[in-house]
Amino acid sequence: MHIVTCAAPVNIAIVKYWGKRDETLMLPLNSSLSVTLNPVQLRAKTTVAISREFDKSRMWLNSVEQNIDNPRLQNVFREIKQRAYRCHSEKNNCGNREDMLNWHIHICSENNFPTSAGLASSAAGYSCLVSALAYLFGVDGEISDIARLGSGSACRSMYGGFVEWDMGRCNDGSDSVARPVASNEHWPELRALILVVTDDNKKTKSTEGMQKSVNTSELLKTRVERIVPHRINEIKEAIRDKDFDRFAEITMKESNQLHAVCLDTFPPIEYLTEVSRRIMNLVHRFNKLCGRTKVAYTFDAGPNACLFLLEEDVPRVLSLIRHFFRPVNSCFESFIHGLPIEVPRV
Ligand code: PMV
Repeated sequence: MHIVTCAAPVNIAIVKYWGKRDETLMLPLNSSLSVTLNPVQLRAKTTVAISREFDKSRMWLNSVEQNIDNPRLQNVFREIKQRAYRCHSEKNNCGNREDMLNWHIHICSENNFPTSAGLASSAAGYSCLVSALAYLFGVDGEISDIARLGSGSACRSMYGGFVEWDMGRCNDGSDSVARPVASNEHWPELRALILVVTDDNKKTKSTEGMQKSVNTSELLKTRVERIVPHRINEIKEAIRDKDFDRFAEITMKESNQLHAVCLDTFPPIEYLTEVSRRIMNLVHRFNKLCGRTKVAYTFDAGPNACLFLLEEDVPRVLSLIRHFFRPVNSCFESFIHGLPIEVPRV
């Protein structure tokens, strides 16, 4: 038996991916950019084991057995095996590993944060799985495009720091890959604060939401053609210059536009809740009171917020959150190197 265990962090989209031009290859309508959080607190951990003794392939997520025939999972397996054959035949070293490619596989994955609640659990999960499989089968080179086949945004979790997912131009998806833009160390004062509003599963999965938006939203077309390309360049400049005001403004506008597209979808999709909106209002009121942008919020396909701020403002913002939002469950906080996160529930 061969066993590999990997951990991978979630990434939080700054310039959002919403809409595909190819559903099977997971090719996006626009490029996107995210920040990968520190892998200690919000992470997926996956163990893959292969053995000639296994009589079938199986998978467990958070201890619950999943359907291994899931087409995305099958696409990932197929692609990684093809790459493995290619890598080994190029190196003339197929032997034992080629045999292994036909064995059944057992996958056991767990997240240490709410799954399917709009906190990029599938991104961390697929990025972790692909890293583990690549290690197991000896695949080297670009593999973010394999992670993309599992869940689009997963390709961005293959790197730390600020990461761009280039939409690519090729029909086969070979150039639709993630690329690091800057490391965590580039902007060590930047902090992320995750506010867990709910750990309920989201009502509309992002795949379904995207399909509906692509079919019905006029705003999505304008966003993809006229807005996102500029925002990608602008956010890269803001990151390069460590210009928090600019970074924060683009981050909030992007989040607002994603949710505007969801409302422009017919019938509309609502991911934000009353608590999410109260968080947004609090951030704007706080920034106004400070006379400058001190905090930015962003929401993916769910009501949970990610706040970006600078280290010096963390104590003040945390006490503000604790004042206005009663913690429902236990809170946990930690400061770790890179891009620390705090995870209070509100
Ligand atoms: O990769 P998916 O299918 O989980 O979609 C992610 C979509 C958003 O989180 C809303 C935006 C993004 O860029 O991650």
